[in-house]
Amino acid sequence: MHRVELLPSILSADFAHLADQVAAAERGGGTVIHVDVMDGHFVPNITLGPPVVKSLRNATKLPLDCHLMIENADEFIPAFADAGANWVSVHYEACRHLHRSLELIAHHGMKPGVVLNPATRVNFIVDILPMVHHVLIMSVNPGFGGQNFIPFSLDKIRRLAELRQELGLAFRIEVDGGVAHDTIAPIVQAGADLLVAGNAVFGAGNPEHDARALLQAARKAAGE
Ligand code: DX5
Ligand code: ZN
Repeated sequence: MHRVELLPSILSADFAHLADQVAAAERGGGTVIHVDVMDGHFVPNITLGPPVVKSLRNATKLPLDCHLMIENADEFIPAFADAGANWVSVHYEACRHLHRSLELIAHHGMKPGVVLNPATRVNFIVDILPMVHHVLIMSVNPGFGGQNFIPFSLDKIRRLAELRQELGLAFRIEVDGGVAHDTIAPIVQAGADLLVAGNAVFGAGNPEHDARALLQAARKAAGE
């Protein structure tokens, strides 16, 4: 349905050289930059916010996919729009009024996405699927890079791909956490088309080469 794309996650990049790291991942075939925003409340880690997104905006033309792992997302959505974010996703588990948050993202001209933690069932979001540009399936518990892929995430991807077909929708299916050489083929075969990878792209110090190899493996698995 959609071609597979690689979304390098800057969480594992060298933050002192972000522009260079992003440029290298782009040369390796990354087409969207995944930006992990953590508040130390919803998840046990703190990362970055709109000022860094604004700097990234000047460093690349690629779309910026901001994954908000924060409480009170509604308060910050306008600031992410001003900073130049293109896609914004919010967690099912962190939004008291998910429908309102998704509308707010769209109202600010950005593409809305919803994120599910590993323990959250796909069925809970059926009613809002027509509103979203992408659904992000977390295949690790959010908060840190370099964790192991949780195998039952594959069932959730398959379920979501089935729902997409049944409902005649076109949202993208994004996967985040533990996407690496040994997991990418089954992830793609289950139906995911947006592949986030942090450690597998930036962890070994050669983002251009490692992004290229990962994308090649994904395309092969997709039969592209
Ligand atoms: C985790 C983040 C991920 C993280 C994935 O909470 O949402 O985007 O960067 O890292 P890897 O690819 O290393 O599992
Ligand atoms: Zn993420």
